[in-house]
Order: sequence, then C-alpha cells, then structure tokens
Amino acid sequence: MIVERTRTQAAVGDAERWTAHNYHPLPVVVAQAEGAWVTDVDGRRYLDCLAGYSALNFGHRHPTLIAAAHAQLDRLTLTSRAFIHDQFATFCRELAELCGKDLVLPMNTGAEAVETAIKVARKWGYQVKGVPDGQATIIVADGNFHGRTTTIVSFSTDPDARDDFGPYTPGFKIVPYGDLAALADAVDDTTVAVLIEPIQGEQGVVVPPPGYLPGVRDLCTQRDMLFIADEIQSGLGRTGETFACDHEGVRPDMYVLGKALGGGIVPVSTVAADRSVLGVLRPGQHGSTFGGNPLACAVATEVVRLLRTGEFQRRSAELGVRLHAGLRSLVGEGLVAVRGRGLWAGVDIDPALMTGRQACERLAERGVLAKDTHGSTIRLAPPLVIEAAEIDHAIAQLAAVLR
Ligand SMILES: Cc1ncc(COP(=O)(O)O)c(C=O)c1O
Repeated sequence: MIVERTRTQAAVGDAERWTAHNYHPLPVVVAQAEGAWVTDVDGRRYLDCLAGYSALNFGHRHPTLIAAAHAQLDRLTLTSRAFIHDQFATFCRELAELCGKDLVLPMNTGAEAVETAIKVARKWGYQVKGVPDGQATIIVADGNFHGRTTTIVSFSTDPDARDDFGPYTPGFKIVPYGDLAALADAVDDTTVAVLIEPIQGEQGVVVPPPGYLPGVRDLCTQRDMLFIADEIQSGLGRTGETFACDHEGVRPDMYVLGKALGGGIVPVSTVAADRSVLGVLRPGQHGSTFGGNPLACAVATEVVRLLRTGEFQRRSAELGVRLHAGLRSLVGEGLVAVRGRGLWAGVDIDPALMTGRQACERLAERGVLAKDTHGSTIRLAPPLVIEAAEIDHAIAQLAAVLR
C-alpha cells in the first residue's frame, strides 16, 4: 500500500533532517496567518493562543504594521549606526515617552537587550555608585528566563538552559522569586542592580505576591541599586496595562523590552532608562549593526502608536477576565491551578491525566495552538485582537482535551 505523506509530514521530516534540535516544536507547519488565526500547509486552521510568546500581541499581519513595513521597504532598509536615518529619532522619542524615560537604546533580540541592561548596570555601578572595579554584582531570581547567551544562562536555574555551557560569567546572585526578605539579605555594597521579570513567563506565568514589586522598588532606592524590569514578555499590553509593573504602580529604573515591539514582523528590542543611567555609555562601548535599523524603527514606531491608544491594554484587561474565569471553571476538571494577568495565563494540568506536551498536541488536533513548559504547565497568550467568542472556543477545546 502506498501511503501519501501530507505536506505537514514532509515539512516536519525536512525540518528534523536539516536543523539542530534545539527546539521541540509541535508538528504544525504554518503557511499563512491573519489576526488570531493561522493556516497550515495542509489548509487546516488554528486559533493561535501563543502569539509567538507575545511577539504577536497585535495579531498576525496587523494592517497598520504591515503598511508601515511595506512603505519602509520601498524607501530604506538599513544604514547601520554609522549614519543616522530619518526613522530613528521619532521611534526613540515616542518609545521613551511611552516608557516615561529620557532615553532608549535599540537592539534586536530580547537577549541582546538584557545583555545591554547588564552592561549598563555594571558601568553605572563603577562610574556612578562607586563600586570597586570588577566587583559589581547583580541580583536575579530563581526560575528566571532572560534569554540564552552565555552570560544570561550563567544565572539561569534551569539545567537545560545552563548545563554544559560553562565556564559561567560571575557577578550574579540568585534569590527566590517573590521573597523580599531573601532579596534584602542578598544586597551588599557591590550590588548594582536587581534584574527580574515582573511576571515570570517561561516559568509558567508566575505572578509575584502583592507588594513584591513595590518592595523591590523601595529596596533599590534605599540601597542605591537599579531596578531592571525585564518586560520583554510581560510588557506592551500583554497583561492589561502597558507594563506589568503598572499593576502595582511601580516604575523601574530600566525597562527591557522586545518581542511585541517588532510587531511580529522584525526583531526589535530596547532598553529604556533615564539619562543618569543610560548616559554612562560612550561611543564604541556598545552596539549592534542591525539595532535601530530603519525597517525596525518604522514598524516599532507604529507599535508604540497602537499602544498609545490604550485599546490593546483595555482589550487584554477586559478579555483577560473572561479567559481567567473560563480557565478557573476547569480547576478540578483536569486543571490544578491557573495563574496570570490579562490575556496571559499559565495553567497546570493534573499530571495524572497527561503532560503539558500531550495537552498541547491534543489542543492542536482540535485547532488551538498553545505551548507547554516545565512538564505539566501550558501557557496561553493569545493575540490581543482575539474576540470573546474565540476565547470561549479555546476554553471549550481545552475542556474537551481534559475530559
Ligand atoms: C522575559 C524574557 N526575557 C528575555 C527573553 C529573550 O528574548 P529573545 O528570545 O528575543 O532573545 C525572553 C524570551 O522568551 C523572555 O521571555
């Protein structure tokens, strides 16, 4: 008997054959997308409830962002930072204003922006705080995810991210996430910064206890340390506010942004801070060929303008109530816990039923895309353009998978 391979099977096989296995994707081969929906090479449609880990907050191919990209492609795509281009200052000013900071420093990927924040914090520590040369330390949290460079994995607590990639970069102290007393105990005169995610995404959308973020803010102010908020996944509307820190009225010294800033079109990341912090950098001390390129700036400026309307934050807050109510109704029906804020949820599947991976495979068979993490957890982060009925649909599919 001749069994014809589907396009999906062929593409999955080719991908396995020709790439390093540094990911374990679901066997879904996407060919097209619009809004909250993607279509695979065999014509099946899926509701995207991952949204590129929040890189697609505005949905796939948002018309305003696509128009900005097209217009820019027809004019100018790259100059390098050896010159200034006509999209640069507008983007930097509008993003700085959105963040309420004096300056921004554009890079490309999230990990690069985190590296930028680390370098800036160390330099600030030596030049402004007066830490003896080579002794600066940065406090980070257990369960963190800030990217995968050699320095960043040096302070990861995830063995998969870290093991066999040493020797590791020194200068980091790890404390339990959400524990203010442990954080205060770890501070000494060499501490230049506290680097945390205001909600830990990869860890399973872990929200710290109320008062933790304000406590970190106060401690940083008292002990002359920079509060660096990695809002790469939590920021830009995902949680129902522009930044996850906003929920507790907290303003960090440095925002680290990425993912959604590129509108799901180009990689764009930045660090935003006041002149007293970012002003420590001098020419030649940091940079990237593609950082702040014209195409990136043109798209990201429109991202900032979409956020300025407040529409996406509002949608996330309002529809998030619906998402969380629906998910909570499944606790005891196959789910053991639900966490998160706005249109962002981490749900723990009863491990006796199935793994997170199995749940995601079964959801994909039912036309809903989500991604597992840490065994029995799955993350839901649909594009902020999702409609109420689509949320109900996703929850109904999850209920069916758990039944
Ligand atoms: C909080 C956080 N920081 C940093 C990163 C790294 O971003 P990138 O994959 O663009 O390097 C991620 C990616 O998931 C993230 O969630």
